[in-house]
Amino acid sequence: MDVADRVVVVTGGASGIGRALCRAAAAQGARVIVVADIDAAGAEAVAHELGERAAAFRTDVASGAEVNALVEFAESTYGAIDLFFANAGILVPGGVEASDEGWERIWHVNVMSHVWATRALLPGMLARGEGYIVITASAAGLLTQLGSAPYSVTKHAAVGLAEWLAITHYDAGIRVSCLCPQGVWTNMTGAGQRRDLRAVAQSTAGRDGFLEAEVVADIVLAAVAEERFLILPHPEVATYEHRRADDRERWLTGMRRVQASLRPRA
Ligand SMILES: NC(=O)c1ccc[n+]([C@@H]2O[C@H](COP(=O)([O-])OP(=O)(O)OC[C@H]3O[C@@H](n4cnc5c(N)ncnc54)[C@H](O)[C@@H]3O)[C@@H](O)[C@H]2O)c1
Repeated sequence: MDVADRVVVVTGGASGIGRALCRAAAAQGARVIVVADIDAAGAEAVAHELGERAAAFRTDVASGAEVNALVEFAESTYGAIDLFFANAGILVPGGVEASDEGWERIWHVNVMSHVWATRALLPGMLARGEGYIVITASAAGLLTQLGSAPYSVTKHAAVGLAEWLAITHYDAGIRVSCLCPQGVWTNMTGAGQRRDLRAVAQSTAGRDGFLEAEVVADIVLAAVAEERFLILPHPEVATYEHRRADDRERWLTGMRRVQASLRPRA
């Protein structure tokens, strides 16, 4: 899809990858960019920076009613949404002992928000025979996230949903992409401490280097132009996924080793 002249919505648009997607869509001539975020002031700031064709809309994507309200606002104000970036996401650390509140929150933000957005978008897109949804998952959705079971589980679910949609609705003209980066410098990865190399060394997400959000956004828009499903800003992830599929036991052994190497030494 060519982004020029399109109506674009970005969730999590106030910061990081979402903000970079808003800027990149504007640079490619989108007609409208709706910057949706739970951080109303941050969304306003991005919309202000982009000028008249951008609007901020405060949305908590953990609420189905708010996701519906976002789609309704964009469509009633600007017309059909052509391209929806379901990008907002959070990380909850820990294993199964993480609180039920934490599991529920991340399930809603990282998975159900995409279900709700798609449910609201699909009838119109199917009627028009066109529409594009980009789901931001993570390399953790193809592999795993050491240190966070909730993130691993929900990002795997996000990849599963994106694949299902891409198969089910392709012939009806719906296009879906799934973004699976490793480390990207954003608030989520403590961008403020980017010069603290310890943070990088202690993170598997940073194994193959952190990318700037702007670089990731350009890669995403290139994939959208090609209508390519899987977006891997870190190409190494494809190799890891092959290794995992080829020999799961060996892959698990390797991951255990990586985990052991990250344990703080006394
Ligand atoms: N940064 C990385 O290394 C990395 C790697 C892989 C995947 N991701 C994914 O990229 C996406 C964007 O994250 P980022 O790294 O840009 O982080 P970020 O923290 O800079 O941005 C996330 C944005 O989402 C918003 N948000 C959080 N909860 C929300 C909610 N309930 N409703 C609406 N907005 C909400 C935040 O306010 C923030 O503006 C996430 O889905 C994340 O899981 C990030």
